[in-house]
Amino acid sequence: VRDADLDMVIRPYADGDEAAVVRLWNECKLIAPANDPRADIAAKVQIQPGLFLVGEIDGRVVATVMAGYEGHRGWINYLAVAPDIQRRGIGRQMMIAAETQLRALGCPKINLQVRTANPGVIGFYRHLGFDVDDVTSLGKRLD
Ligand SMILES: CC(C)(COP(=O)(O)OP(=O)(O)OC[C@H]1O[C@@H](n2cnc3c(N)ncnc32)[C@H](O)[C@@H]1OP(=O)(O)O)[C@@H](O)C(=O)NCCC(=O)NCCS
Repeated sequence: VRDADLDMVIRPYADGDEAAVVRLWNECKLIAPANDPRADIAAKVQIQPGLFLVGEIDGRVVATVMAGYEGHRGWINYLAVAPDIQRRGIGRQMMIAAETQLRALGCPKINLQVRTANPGVIGFYRHLGFDVDDVTSLGKRLD
C-alpha cells in the first residue's frame, strides 16, 4: 500500500468475514437488486475460493476482490475499498493480488464489467492498464 500508515494484509476470504464483507459492499453501493450478496459469497466459497480475497488493516476488512478463471479469461467482480480509505493505493493492491493469482493459473487476459451507472471507476481501471474493449456485454440469468 502506498501509505506507510496503512499496513494491509491480503488473504483469502474466511467464514467469519461475511458480515463485514456485506457491510463493505453496501457502503460501496455494489449490491444491485438482483444480487444476493450472501448467496454470492456462499457460491464463491464452493468454486475457486482462493480467488476471493479480502484486505485487512488492524483486523478490519477494508477491501475485497472476487476473481475467477474459466480456462480462457479471468474475471473480476466485487472490487471494493472502504470509502474512508479510498484513493490511497488499496484498490491497486487488491487488483495486483488478483492479477498475480490469475497469472499463476495461466490466465492470459482479464475481463471485467463496469455498470453504466458507475462510469467514474473507468479512470481507475485505466490507471491500472485496462482498456475499454470494443464489445457489448450480454447476460442471461440461469437462476
Ligand atoms: C474503484 C475502487 C476500488 C478504487 O480503489 P482505491 O483504493 O480508491 O484506488 P487506488 O487508490 O488504488 O487508485 C489507483 C490509481 O487509480 C486512480 N483512481 C482511483 N479512483 C479513480 C477514479 N475514480 N478515476 C480516475 N482515477 C482513479 C488513483 O488516483 C490511483 O492513481 P495513481 O496510482 O496514479 O495515483 C474504489 O473507489 C471503490 O471501492 N469504489 C466503489 C466500488 C466500485 O465502484 N468498485 C468497482 C466496480 S466495477
